[in-house]
Amino acid sequence: MRRKVIAGNWKMHKDLNETQNLISKLSNGLAKEEFNCDVIICPPYTSLSEASTLIKDTKIKLGAQNMHFEDKGAFTGEVSSAMLKSVGCEYVILGHSERRAIFGETDEIINKKIKKSLDSGLKPIFCIGETLQEREGGVMKDVIKRHVTEGLQHISKGEMEKLIIAYEPVWAIGTGVTASPEQAQEVHLFVRGLIAEIFGGDTAENIIIQYGGSVKPNNAKELLSQNDIDGALVGGACLEAESFTGIITSV
Ligand code: PGA
Repeated sequence: MRRKVIAGNWKMHKDLNETQNLISKLSNGLAKEEFNCDVIICPPYTSLSEASTLIKDTKIKLGAQNMHFEDKGAFTGEVSSAMLKSVGCEYVILGHSERRAIFGETDEIINKKIKKSLDSGLKPIFCIGETLQEREGGVMKDVIKRHVTEGLQHISKGEMEKLIIAYEPVWAIGTGVTASPEQAQEVHLFVRGLIAEIFGGDTAENIIIQYGGSVKPNNAKELLSQNDIDGALVGGACLEAESFTGIITSV
């Protein structure tokens, strides 16, 4: 049985005060609830250190939303994996569709970041997913296959134990249009099949594949009850303690 993992991607939301408020509400809320999954929050860089302190005595784990693949140097505005570890991060989201579309990240860049994060002991949440145009154009599986094979080049079977995949159809992100449980399940099964081809059946059986794209408390249960959906990467609904808690307790 794979343990479910619910991660909240705060994106560019929440200053320091708002971070304190949200974590306080979230940890109080979760302390009263029974839940059977791992919970990760991924605040912006400026809130990571504070978040790390605030979640210390809770079950919440910490992740970042991005990092650079170099160790250090003249890369103005960038942050390294070692820096993220030093403020208490255990996870890092890599290859998010917003990084791909707005910041021009290629499969090659994402692969370098995945390798660096694993070398540094940070667990990547590796995002893949097709656009609406790609889905309607009939190339969805080609795109997913390219994301998976190129993103995971030179990653070992052992390293795959540390990695989470997040399937996020771009057309479902922030749109309120979620993939139906059947649509999501179909792609998750396809991704698990790709992992089996590359790394073998046991790796495929164990890998966590999250779904992301307009996950809300009212659709989480149905999505998360699909055979191959092992968790959720949540954007909008993780910005309020009530809705994020609602998703966590629906597991
Ligand atoms: P959303 O974002 O839940 O707001 O659709 C998900 C994501 O981008 O990870």
